[in-house]
Amino acid sequence: MEISLAGKVALVTGAGPNIGSGIALALARYGARVACNDISPDAAKACVRRIERNGGEAMAVTGDVSNQDDVMRYLGEVLAAWGRIDILINNAAVLGGKGLLEEDIGYFNRAVTVAAAGNFLNSKHAAIAMIERGIKGSIVSILSSNAWQGAGGVIAYAFHKGGLANFVRAAAMDLAPYGIRVNSFSPTAPTPDNPELLAEWRKTGRTELRGPRQPPPDRPEWWRPAGQFDVRGMIPMGAPSTPTDIGHCVAWMCSDYARLITGCDFVVDGGARAKYWGYLPAAADAAGPAPLIPLDVTTMEEMEASD
Ligand SMILES: NC(=O)c1ccc[n+]([C@@H]2O[C@H](COP(=O)([O-])OP(=O)(O)OC[C@H]3O[C@@H](n4cnc5c(N)ncnc54)[C@H](O)[C@@H]3O)[C@@H](O)[C@H]2O)c1
Repeated sequence: MEISLAGKVALVTGAGPNIGSGIALALARYGARVACNDISPDAAKACVRRIERNGGEAMAVTGDVSNQDDVMRYLGEVLAAWGRIDILINNAAVLGGKGLLEEDIGYFNRAVTVAAAGNFLNSKHAAIAMIERGIKGSIVSILSSNAWQGAGGVIAYAFHKGGLANFVRAAAMDLAPYGIRVNSFSPTAPTPDNPELLAEWRKTGRTELRGPRQPPPDRPEWWRPAGQFDVRGMIPMGAPSTPTDIGHCVAWMCSDYARLITGCDFVVDGGARAKYWGYLPAAADAAGPAPLIPLDVTTMEEMEASD
């Protein structure tokens, strides 16, 4: 029994080099043709190159997910090229931000708009394209642990990811009569595994996804720190996920094997979210999971050599 997305067309928004690119590559390796969107033309093109060097078919479609004119244009480009859309992955987001006491309204509104308008416009117009063609497609919104649990220092992110969790359930109801499914996937700080990104990082000596935040110099004297994160030591199975793990799961979610799965959220987190809040796993002693089934045939060394 093989999961295949052959004949299907996918659109992945925010197909930057980390999670979006990992999902786009997975959809292509499982057989779909993939349109890679990003607000950055370079990011969209890099995702296309990655898919092509892995034997897949892809096209770049640039534009802002929260701008209706852009969305209509790039959906039109996909439909003109390939005649259909079966899969939409709402991945684009503005990451980072600050906590309640420090965030500013400009950043807050932009982050919320990219998430809210981005998910709304792409889901609405991709769904209409599916319905007009009789396609029983699949829409996946990429959330975060921040959709389900509160963390300090990310008030806008918490707001829009939490809102999307119920957007997904309501959209699943609106599209159920058409056989179109809407689900979400919640990444848990995966460790990047795109060889091109890793090669780029090695050049600059960077090893972590986001470096430690620098506190602003002008904090008031009543300021108190909110706490810290330990995203590697709290995983019962002892190993972080990768965008490849996420890609395997999302590809399955978009296959017809999942034909009745709608309004659900998925994680690939080694048990992190299932964990009792006060339980400290013996993560360092864990045997670890089965080996990863890779999807990218290129290595970091090959990417460095091709520079
Ligand atoms: N990286 C993590 O640890 C993590 C954890 C949980 C959830 N997530 C979620 O996974 C998704 C991908 O995260 P990532 O780490 O790959 O982020 P990333 O910042 O590397 O990629 C996001 C991409 O979205 C693009 N983008 C931003 N605004 C856009 C817009 N208006 N229109 C089109 N493209 C736009 C950016 O250019 C970028 O390439 C996001 O939804 C994020 O919230 C990430």
